[in-house]
This record gives sequence, structure tokens and C-alpha cells, in this order.
Amino acid sequence: MLGLMEFNYDFSLKKYNTFGIEERCDGFIQVNSEESLLEAIKHNPFNRVFVLGQGSNILLTQKISGLCIHIGMKGISLVSETDEEVIVEAMAGENWHQLVVWSLEQGYGGLENLALIPGNVGTAPIQNIGAYGVELKDIFVSCTALDLNSLTTKTFDVTEVGFGYRNSIFKTKAKGKYIITRVRFRLTKRNHRLHTQYGAIKNALAAKEPNPKNIAEAVIGIRKSKLPDPKELGNSGSFFKNPVIKKTHFEKLQTDYPELPFYVQENGDYKIPAGWLIEFMGFKGYRINDAGVHSKQALVLVNHGSASGKEILALANEIQNKVFETFHIQLETEVNIL
Ligand code: EPU
Repeated sequence: MLGLMEFNYDFSLKKYNTFGIEERCDGFIQVNSEESLLEAIKHNPFNRVFVLGQGSNILLTQKISGLCIHIGMKGISLVSETDEEVIVEAMAGENWHQLVVWSLEQGYGGLENLALIPGNVGTAPIQNIGAYGVELKDIFVSCTALDLNSLTTKTFDVTEVGFGYRNSIFKTKAKGKYIITRVRFRLTKRNHRLHTQYGAIKNALAAKEPNPKNIAEAVIGIRKSKLPDPKELGNSGSFFKNPVIKKTHFEKLQTDYPELPFYVQENGDYKIPAGWLIEFMGFKGYRINDAGVHSKQALVLVNHGSASGKEILALANEIQNKVFETFHIQLETEVNIL
């Protein structure tokens, strides 16, 4: 097995992060099976491992020390089936959108609102990806992961993953300890639970009877109109999380800014769209050298060509400072800064 393993030394990650940032790593290997993942870890010539999916939620600001393992295992299979639903298992290296497309071709419901999210299956649970009223946790059954300490596999069910808004234990107490290799989803064959409450989806559907396929088409249309395609303009989707503030803070802000949009949370807190705050501060379409704010969605930072990670980070800090000065809201990054 080891004989087949090719470690690449001092390797450029430019093609492996959707921001298109030029940074290098000490070592790089692509693994296409769970067996070769284990071999790579056992024979790692460095003392550190860094796991890379499709690089769609990272900002590289320096050289990555250690071995960068690019997860490439593929495969989608049916685990079980009833008249109502199916349990589907996908390998970590499957492209997320390809899984969505496959599920729609089979006539399954559940993934349609999550169409066109960049990234792969294995990284989706880490930040509980979400869009247009649906989060991964809504259809997640379990994931299998390699424990980097014991080198054994462990299965986490939905109660063990600690999902929150763009959060899970893989970002907190289990951070860096596991590599997700497979994920199971519960999808519907009929009586689909459709989510069409998001305004732009309603508009796109107009008089059409909603079904998983036309919801996915609507989502694809909305995303294409607002979010830049990383192949054309480097980016990592939303750069910041939408902040959640207390009612007293919100009421104070609302007096000064009556047009401030908000979503009331179950616990009475207020979630504020960060894109609005950033646009209000005049940053939409702003640019310093090649680091910029997208002209159609202020929550998305972009690389117009040869920005460095440090330049994007400096722009992010400038935005955070300006938003804080005006609204006393500290924007947290959604993208992992490395
Ligand atoms: N807005 C502005 N100006 C902007 C952008 C947004 O005023 O430039 C305001 C508007 O009031 C708009 C509201 O923000 O109605 C919400 O904007 P949008 O629907 O584009 O969604 P978002 O809150 O900016 C979140 C997710 C996206 C997800 C969309 C749709 C986060 C951090 N982002 O963005 O997820 O696609 O909702 O569900 O929660 C991602 O995580 O990478 C991502 C793209």
C-alpha cells in the first residue's frame, strides 16, 4: 500500500482552495479510500495532519505545516428503504452538489434547498451547512469518522454531533481529532417535507406546485444570481456568520436604524443579516488591490486575482472594526482562517 503512496513535498494549494490563494503546505497527498487514509496517517513524515476537502470554507494566510490530506473517496449507496423514505450513505470525497443532483434524479426529497453549496460531503456536517430554510442537521442520520488518536473508526449519530448554527462538535471539542469518512442521510420518497417559505423561492416558484426538483431549480437560480462561482471569482461563500444579539441591544439599534432587518430566534434573541450591516457601512463592491467585497452580496469576500490571504484578512478586520464602531456588534468569521 505504502509503495503506491505519493507524498508531494512543499506543494502549492492554490488549486485546492476556492479563494484561489497561493500558499503552500509541507506535504500533500490525495487519498481515495479509507485504507489509504489510514496508511497516509501511519506513514506521515510530518508530525501534524491537516485535512482538506474541497477547500471551500478556508482562508489560507500562511504555509500549512504538516501533511495536507486531500479527501477523495467517492461513492453513494442505499443503506435501507421503506415505502416512505431511504437512508443513503455517501463517501466524504463526493462533491456535495453531485449528491444533491443524484438524490433528485432518484426522486428523493430532502436535499433540494442545499443545492449548489460548494464543498464535499465529508465537510458538510462540520459546519452544519445550511441555506434557504434547511440545515444539514434536518436530514442527517450519522457520520463515520477516523479517530486520529486511536486510529479506529467511530460513528456519531445526530444526538452526538452537537449541531448549531454553522457549528458542530467538529468545530469545538472534537476539532482536529477526527476525519469524517462517510455520512448517512434520511431522504423522503413521498410526502416530501418542502421548505418554500424563503421569499425568493416563493417568487421563483410563482404558480408552480412545489416539488424537490423545482425547489432545487429555484435555489440554483438564486445562488447563481447572488453568489460568485469560485471558478470565475475566488471566494468561500459567506465570510461572516449572521450575528445574534440580545433583545435590549436590538431595540436600541432599531431606534437609530428603523430599517434594520432581523429574524427573531426561538429563545427571544435577534439574528441580524451581516450582509446588511456590511452594505450599510458602504463596503458592497469595495476593493483594495485584489481583495474585495462582492458587488451582489456584501457577506461574500472575493479574490479578484492575486490577493494574499493576509490581504483578505486585513479587509475582513477593517469590516469588523467599522461594523463594531457603528453597531457594537462583533462579526465572527464563518470561514476558517488558517
Ligand atoms: N443583505 C443586504 N445586503 C447584502 C446582503 C444581504 O442588505 O449585500 C440583507 C438583506 O436584508 C437580505 C438579508 O441580508 O434580505 C439576507 O441575505 P441572503 O438571503 O443573501 O442571506 P444571508 O443571510 O446573507 C445566509 C447564509 C448563506 C445562505 C443564505 C440563504 C450565513 C452566514 N449565510 O446568508 O450561506 O446561502 O442565508 O439561506 O448564514 C454560506 O454559509 O456560505 C452561505 C452562502
